[in-house]
Amino acid sequence: MSKEIILTGITTTGTPHLGNYAGAIRPAIEASKDENARPFYFLADYHALIKCHEPERVKQSSLEIAATWLALGLDTSNAVFYRQSDVPEIMELCWMLSCVTAKGLMNRSHAYKASVAENEEAEGNDPDKGITMGLFSYPVLMAADILMFNANKVPVGKDQIQHIEMARDIANRFNHIYTEHFAIPEAVVEENAATILGLDGRKMSKSYNNTIPLFETEKKFKKLINKIKTNSLEPGEAKDSENCTLFGIYKAFANESEVDEIRGLYAEGIAWGEMKKILFEKINTEIAPARERYQALMDAPEHIEQELLKGAEKARKISAPFMQKLRESVGISAITKGR
Ligand code: TRP
Repeated sequence: MSKEIILTGITTTGTPHLGNYAGAIRPAIEASKDENARPFYFLADYHALIKCHEPERVKQSSLEIAATWLALGLDTSNAVFYRQSDVPEIMELCWMLSCVTAKGLMNRSHAYKASVAENEEAEGNDPDKGITMGLFSYPVLMAADILMFNANKVPVGKDQIQHIEMARDIANRFNHIYTEHFAIPEAVVEENAATILGLDGRKMSKSYNNTIPLFETEKKFKKLINKIKTNSLEPGEAKDSENCTLFGIYKAFANESEVDEIRGLYAEGIAWGEMKKILFEKINTEIAPARERYQALMDAPEHIEQELLKGAEKARKISAPFMQKLRESVGISAITKGR
Protein backbone atom coordinates (compact mmCIF):
# COMPACT_ATOMS: atom_id res chain seq x y z
CA MET A 1 0.00 0.00 0.00
CA SER A 2 1.36 3.41 -0.83
CA LYS A 3 1.88 5.75 2.07
CA GLU A 4 -0.42 8.61 2.79
CA ILE A 5 1.22 11.93 2.04
CA ILE A 6 1.02 14.54 4.76
CA LEU A 7 2.37 17.98 3.90
CA THR A 8 2.69 21.24 5.74
CA GLY A 9 4.74 24.43 5.49
CA ILE A 10 6.11 26.83 8.06
CA THR A 11 6.53 30.46 7.05
CA THR A 12 10.01 31.68 7.91
CA THR A 13 9.34 35.00 9.56
CA GLY A 14 9.77 34.36 13.27
CA THR A 15 11.30 32.40 16.12
CA PRO A 16 9.46 29.21 17.14
CA HIS A 17 7.56 29.72 20.41
CA LEU A 18 5.74 27.54 22.93
CA GLY A 19 2.44 27.99 21.09
CA ASN A 20 3.93 26.77 17.79
CA TYR A 21 5.49 23.86 19.63
CA ALA A 22 2.40 22.57 21.42
CA GLY A 23 -0.02 23.36 18.60
CA ALA A 24 1.88 22.28 15.51
CA ILE A 25 5.49 21.18 15.85
CA ARG A 26 5.09 18.50 18.51
CA PRO A 27 2.19 16.74 16.71
CA ALA A 28 3.98 16.98 13.36
CA ILE A 29 7.11 15.38 14.77
CA GLU A 30 5.03 12.60 16.29
CA ALA A 31 3.44 12.04 12.88
CA SER A 32 6.88 11.82 11.27
CA LYS A 33 7.40 8.56 13.13
CA ASP A 34 4.29 6.91 11.66
CA GLU A 35 5.42 4.36 9.12
CA ASN A 36 2.16 4.45 7.23
CA ALA A 37 2.59 8.11 6.41
CA ARG A 38 5.12 10.01 4.36
CA PRO A 39 5.41 13.55 5.72
CA PHE A 40 6.64 16.49 3.69
CA TYR A 41 7.58 19.40 5.95
CA PHE A 42 9.11 22.51 4.48
CA LEU A 43 10.33 26.00 5.24
CA ALA A 44 8.01 28.28 3.29
CA ASP A 45 10.60 30.95 2.58
CA TYR A 46 8.90 32.31 -0.53
CA HIS A 47 5.78 32.78 1.60
CA ALA A 48 7.90 34.76 4.06
CA LEU A 49 8.57 37.41 1.40
CA ILE A 50 4.87 38.22 1.27
CA LYS A 51 4.91 39.79 4.70
CA CYS A 52 8.56 40.35 5.51
CA HIS A 53 11.03 42.46 3.56
CA GLU A 54 13.88 42.03 6.03
CA PRO A 55 16.38 39.60 4.47
CA GLU A 56 18.28 38.96 7.71
CA ARG A 57 15.10 38.07 9.52
CA VAL A 58 13.96 35.61 6.84
CA LYS A 59 17.36 33.94 6.89
CA GLN A 60 17.66 33.81 10.68
CA SER A 61 14.14 32.44 10.95
CA SER A 62 14.90 29.67 8.43
CA LEU A 63 17.89 28.69 10.52
CA GLU A 64 15.98 28.74 13.81
CA ILE A 65 13.01 26.81 12.48
CA ALA A 66 15.17 24.12 10.87
CA ALA A 67 17.29 23.80 14.03
CA THR A 68 14.13 23.52 16.13
CA TRP A 69 12.59 20.72 14.11
CA LEU A 70 15.83 18.77 13.97
CA ALA A 71 16.57 19.27 17.67
CA LEU A 72 13.13 17.96 18.54
CA GLY A 73 13.87 14.72 16.76
CA LEU A 74 12.18 15.00 13.39
CA ASP A 75 12.77 11.66 11.68
CA THR A 76 14.33 12.76 8.40
CA SER A 77 14.75 9.20 7.22
CA ASN A 78 10.96 9.08 6.80
CA ALA A 79 10.02 12.75 6.52
CA VAL A 80 11.13 14.89 3.60
CA PHE A 81 12.34 18.12 5.20
CA TYR A 82 13.27 20.88 2.75
CA ARG A 83 13.32 24.54 1.91
CA GLN A 84 10.65 25.62 -0.57
CA SER A 85 13.16 27.74 -2.51
CA ASP A 86 15.39 24.70 -3.09
CA VAL A 87 12.65 23.12 -5.18
CA PRO A 88 12.29 25.43 -8.20
CA GLU A 89 9.53 23.28 -9.72
CA ILE A 90 7.18 24.69 -7.08
CA MET A 91 7.51 28.20 -8.50
CA GLU A 92 7.05 26.87 -12.00
CA LEU A 93 3.92 25.05 -10.97
CA CYS A 94 2.72 28.20 -9.27
CA TRP A 95 2.65 29.93 -12.66
CA MET A 96 0.87 27.05 -14.37
CA LEU A 97 -1.76 27.10 -11.65
CA SER A 98 -2.07 30.88 -11.80
CA CYS A 99 -3.08 30.51 -15.42
CA VAL A 100 -6.10 28.36 -14.54
CA THR A 101 -7.09 30.14 -11.33
CA ALA A 102 -10.01 32.52 -11.52
CA LYS A 103 -9.26 35.98 -10.20
CA GLY A 104 -12.70 35.92 -8.64
CA LEU A 105 -11.65 32.96 -6.49
CA MET A 106 -8.69 34.93 -5.14
CA ASN A 107 -10.94 37.95 -4.48
CA ARG A 108 -12.69 35.81 -1.87
CA SER A 109 -9.56 35.03 0.13
CA HIS A 110 -10.01 36.01 3.80
CA ALA A 111 -6.45 37.28 4.17
CA TYR A 112 -6.79 39.58 1.17
CA LYS A 113 -10.30 40.69 2.09
CA ALA A 114 -9.21 41.58 5.61
CA SER A 115 -6.48 43.86 4.24
CA VAL A 116 -8.94 45.55 1.87
CA ALA A 117 -11.47 46.03 4.66
CA GLU A 118 -8.80 47.57 6.87
CA ASN A 119 -7.84 49.97 4.09
CA GLU A 120 -11.42 50.99 3.49
CA GLU A 121 -11.81 51.93 7.12
CA ALA A 122 -8.58 53.89 7.18
CA GLU A 123 -8.12 57.46 6.06
CA GLY A 124 -7.84 58.05 2.33
CA ASN A 125 -9.56 54.68 1.81
CA ASP A 126 -7.53 53.38 -1.11
CA PRO A 127 -8.60 49.71 -1.01
CA ASP A 128 -5.33 48.53 -2.60
CA LYS A 129 -2.97 50.30 -0.22
CA GLY A 130 -0.01 48.06 0.67
CA ILE A 131 -1.51 45.04 -1.05
CA THR A 132 1.04 43.29 -3.24
CA MET A 133 0.45 40.70 -5.94
CA GLY A 134 2.24 38.30 -3.58
CA LEU A 135 -0.46 38.71 -0.95
CA PHE A 136 -3.21 38.52 -3.54
CA SER A 137 -2.00 35.30 -5.14
CA TYR A 138 -0.65 33.68 -1.99
CA PRO A 139 -3.26 30.89 -2.12
CA VAL A 140 -1.93 29.86 -5.55
CA LEU A 141 1.59 29.45 -4.20
CA MET A 142 0.18 27.43 -1.35
CA ALA A 143 -1.72 25.25 -3.83
CA ALA A 144 1.53 24.69 -5.74
CA ASP A 145 3.27 23.59 -2.51
CA ILE A 146 0.55 21.05 -1.90
CA LEU A 147 -0.14 19.77 -5.42
CA MET A 148 3.54 19.44 -6.35
CA PHE A 149 3.73 16.40 -4.07
CA ASN A 150 0.14 15.21 -4.43
CA ALA A 151 -0.45 15.62 -0.72
CA ASN A 152 -3.47 13.81 0.68
CA LYS A 153 -3.60 15.44 4.10
CA VAL A 154 -2.59 18.98 5.01
CA PRO A 155 -2.43 19.73 8.76
CA VAL A 156 -3.18 23.43 9.28
CA GLY A 157 -4.70 25.89 11.70
CA LYS A 158 -8.34 26.95 11.25
CA ASP A 159 -7.30 30.17 9.51
CA GLN A 160 -5.86 28.12 6.65
CA ILE A 161 -8.86 25.94 5.83
CA GLN A 162 -10.03 28.28 3.09
CA HIS A 163 -6.65 28.04 1.40
CA ILE A 164 -6.89 24.27 1.25
CA GLU A 165 -10.35 24.57 -0.28
CA MET A 166 -8.90 26.88 -2.89
CA ALA A 167 -6.13 24.35 -3.58
CA ARG A 168 -8.85 21.75 -4.18
CA ASP A 169 -10.68 24.06 -6.58
CA ILE A 170 -7.48 24.84 -8.45
CA ALA A 171 -6.52 21.15 -8.65
CA ASN A 172 -9.93 20.23 -10.04
CA ARG A 173 -9.74 22.99 -12.61
CA PHE A 174 -6.30 21.89 -13.79
CA ASN A 175 -7.32 18.22 -13.85
CA HIS A 176 -10.42 19.13 -15.86
CA ILE A 177 -8.42 20.97 -18.51
CA TYR A 178 -5.29 18.81 -18.72
CA THR A 179 -6.48 15.41 -17.38
CA GLU A 180 -6.04 13.98 -13.90
CA HIS A 181 -2.65 15.02 -12.62
CA PHE A 182 -3.35 16.04 -9.06
CA ALA A 183 -4.68 14.32 -5.96
CA ILE A 184 -7.32 16.39 -4.21
CA PRO A 185 -5.94 17.42 -0.80
CA GLU A 186 -7.82 17.53 2.47
CA ALA A 187 -7.29 19.91 5.38
CA VAL A 188 -6.67 18.29 8.74
CA VAL A 189 -7.55 20.57 11.62
CA GLU A 190 -6.68 19.02 14.94
CA GLU A 191 -9.69 20.07 17.00
CA ASN A 192 -8.02 19.43 20.31
CA ALA A 193 -4.64 20.82 19.34
CA ALA A 194 -3.38 22.92 22.19
CA THR A 195 -3.77 26.66 21.76
CA ILE A 196 -1.72 28.51 24.24
CA LEU A 197 -2.11 32.04 25.54
CA GLY A 198 0.82 34.43 25.72
CA LEU A 199 2.41 36.70 28.35
CA ASP A 200 -0.51 39.15 28.26
CA GLY A 201 -3.29 36.54 28.23
CA ARG A 202 -4.13 36.93 24.52
CA LYS A 203 -3.43 34.08 22.08
CA MET A 204 0.33 33.50 21.89
CA SER A 205 1.36 35.01 18.58
CA LYS A 206 4.28 36.87 17.13
CA SER A 207 1.89 39.58 15.94
CA TYR A 208 0.96 40.35 19.58
CA ASN A 209 4.56 40.30 20.70
CA ASN A 210 3.60 38.17 23.69
CA THR A 211 5.43 34.94 22.93
CA ILE A 212 7.71 32.72 24.94
CA PRO A 213 10.42 31.47 22.57
CA LEU A 214 10.80 27.71 22.81
CA PHE A 215 14.57 27.59 23.13
CA GLU A 216 15.62 30.53 25.27
CA THR A 217 18.36 29.80 27.81
CA GLU A 218 16.91 28.16 30.89
CA LYS A 219 17.36 31.36 32.88
CA LYS A 220 15.56 33.56 30.37
CA PHE A 221 12.88 30.96 29.95
CA LYS A 222 12.19 31.00 33.68
CA LYS A 223 12.08 34.79 33.67
CA LEU A 224 9.49 34.80 30.91
CA ILE A 225 7.30 32.26 32.68
CA ASN A 226 7.43 34.57 35.71
CA LYS A 227 6.25 37.44 33.52
CA ILE A 228 2.99 35.75 32.51
CA LYS A 229 0.13 37.96 33.64
CA THR A 230 -2.11 36.71 36.45
CA ASN A 231 -4.77 38.38 38.58
CA SER A 232 -3.97 39.78 42.01
CA LEU A 233 -5.49 37.06 44.20
CA GLU A 234 -3.38 36.35 47.27
CA PRO A 235 -1.98 32.97 48.34
CA GLY A 236 -4.72 31.07 50.14
CA GLU A 237 -7.54 32.58 48.07
CA ALA A 238 -9.32 30.05 45.82
CA LYS A 239 -8.48 30.54 42.13
CA ASP A 240 -10.29 29.74 38.90
CA SER A 241 -8.24 27.29 36.85
CA GLU A 242 -10.39 27.38 33.74
CA ASN A 243 -9.64 30.93 32.68
CA CYS A 244 -6.04 30.98 33.73
CA THR A 245 -3.17 31.39 31.26
CA LEU A 246 -0.78 29.40 33.47
CA PHE A 247 -3.21 26.53 33.83
CA GLY A 248 -3.91 26.48 30.09
CA ILE A 249 -0.24 26.15 29.31
CA TYR A 250 0.23 23.52 32.01
CA LYS A 251 -2.55 21.46 30.43
CA ALA A 252 -0.65 21.29 27.15
CA PHE A 253 2.29 19.63 28.89
CA ALA A 254 0.77 17.39 31.55
CA ASN A 255 -1.30 14.21 31.70
CA GLU A 256 -4.83 14.07 33.05
CA SER A 257 -4.03 13.11 36.63
CA GLU A 258 -1.40 15.83 36.90
CA VAL A 259 -3.93 18.34 35.59
CA ASP A 260 -6.50 17.17 38.17
CA GLU A 261 -3.99 17.59 40.93
CA ILE A 262 -3.21 21.18 39.92
CA ARG A 263 -6.92 21.94 39.62
CA GLY A 264 -7.19 20.90 43.27
CA LEU A 265 -4.32 23.19 44.22
CA TYR A 266 -6.10 26.11 42.52
CA ALA A 267 -9.20 25.47 44.63
CA GLU A 268 -7.00 25.44 47.71
CA GLY A 269 -5.49 28.79 46.77
CA ILE A 270 -2.02 28.00 45.43
CA ALA A 271 0.21 31.11 45.24
CA TRP A 272 0.93 32.39 41.73
CA GLY A 273 4.66 32.22 42.38
CA GLU A 274 4.34 28.57 43.31
CA MET A 275 2.27 27.77 40.21
CA LYS A 276 4.82 29.48 38.00
CA LYS A 277 7.53 27.33 39.52
CA ILE A 278 5.55 24.16 38.84
CA LEU A 279 4.88 25.27 35.28
CA PHE A 280 8.51 26.07 34.62
CA GLU A 281 9.64 22.69 35.94
CA LYS A 282 7.06 20.83 33.91
CA ILE A 283 7.96 22.41 30.56
CA ASN A 284 11.65 22.53 31.25
CA THR A 285 11.80 18.80 31.91
CA GLU A 286 10.20 18.16 28.52
CA ILE A 287 12.31 20.51 26.45
CA ALA A 288 15.71 20.65 28.20
CA PRO A 289 17.34 17.82 26.22
CA ALA A 290 16.15 19.33 22.92
CA ARG A 291 17.40 22.75 24.04
CA GLU A 292 20.91 21.33 24.25
CA ARG A 293 20.67 19.77 20.82
CA TYR A 294 19.30 23.08 19.50
CA GLN A 295 22.29 24.98 20.82
CA ALA A 296 24.66 22.45 19.27
CA LEU A 297 22.88 22.73 15.91
CA MET A 298 22.87 26.52 16.00
CA ASP A 299 26.62 26.34 16.54
CA ALA A 300 26.98 24.08 13.49
CA PRO A 301 24.69 25.60 10.84
CA GLU A 302 26.51 23.66 8.11
CA HIS A 303 24.95 20.49 9.50
CA ILE A 304 21.49 22.03 9.19
CA GLU A 305 22.26 23.15 5.65
CA GLN A 306 23.31 19.60 4.78
CA GLU A 307 20.04 18.20 6.09
CA LEU A 308 18.02 20.71 4.09
CA LEU A 309 19.94 19.98 0.90
CA LYS A 310 19.43 16.26 1.41
CA GLY A 311 15.73 16.92 1.85
CA ALA A 312 15.60 19.03 -1.29
CA GLU A 313 17.28 16.28 -3.25
CA LYS A 314 14.63 13.81 -2.12
CA ALA A 315 11.89 16.27 -2.97
CA ARG A 316 13.28 16.99 -6.42
CA LYS A 317 13.40 13.30 -7.27
CA ILE A 318 9.63 13.64 -7.27
CA SER A 319 9.09 17.20 -8.44
CA ALA A 320 11.47 17.21 -11.42
CA PRO A 321 9.98 14.28 -13.36
CA PHE A 322 6.47 15.35 -12.37
CA MET A 323 7.14 18.83 -13.73
CA GLN A 324 8.37 17.32 -16.97
CA LYS A 325 5.05 15.54 -17.32
CA LEU A 326 3.11 18.68 -16.49
CA ARG A 327 5.06 20.73 -19.00
CA GLU A 328 4.25 18.25 -21.70
CA SER A 329 0.63 18.15 -20.83
CA VAL A 330 0.26 21.95 -21.12
CA GLY A 331 2.15 21.99 -24.43
CA ILE A 332 5.57 23.15 -23.30
CA SER A 333 8.22 20.69 -24.45
CA ALA A 334 10.54 20.00 -27.34
CA ILE A 335 8.52 20.67 -30.49
CA THR A 336 9.77 17.47 -32.04
CA LYS A 337 8.37 15.39 -29.25
CA GLY A 338 5.26 13.27 -29.81
CA ARG A 339 4.96 14.24 -33.47
N1 TRP B 1 0.40 29.66 4.78
C1 TRP B 1 0.72 28.71 5.81
C2 TRP B 1 0.64 29.44 7.17
O1 TRP B 1 0.75 30.65 7.22
C3 TRP B 1 2.09 28.13 5.63
C4 TRP B 1 2.12 27.32 4.37
C5 TRP B 1 2.70 27.66 3.19
C6 TRP B 1 1.51 26.05 4.18
N2 TRP B 1 2.50 26.68 2.27
C7 TRP B 1 1.78 25.69 2.83
C8 TRP B 1 0.76 25.20 5.00
C9 TRP B 1 1.29 24.49 2.31
C10 TRP B 1 0.29 24.00 4.47
C11 TRP B 1 0.55 23.66 3.12
O2 TRP B 1 0.47 28.78 8.17
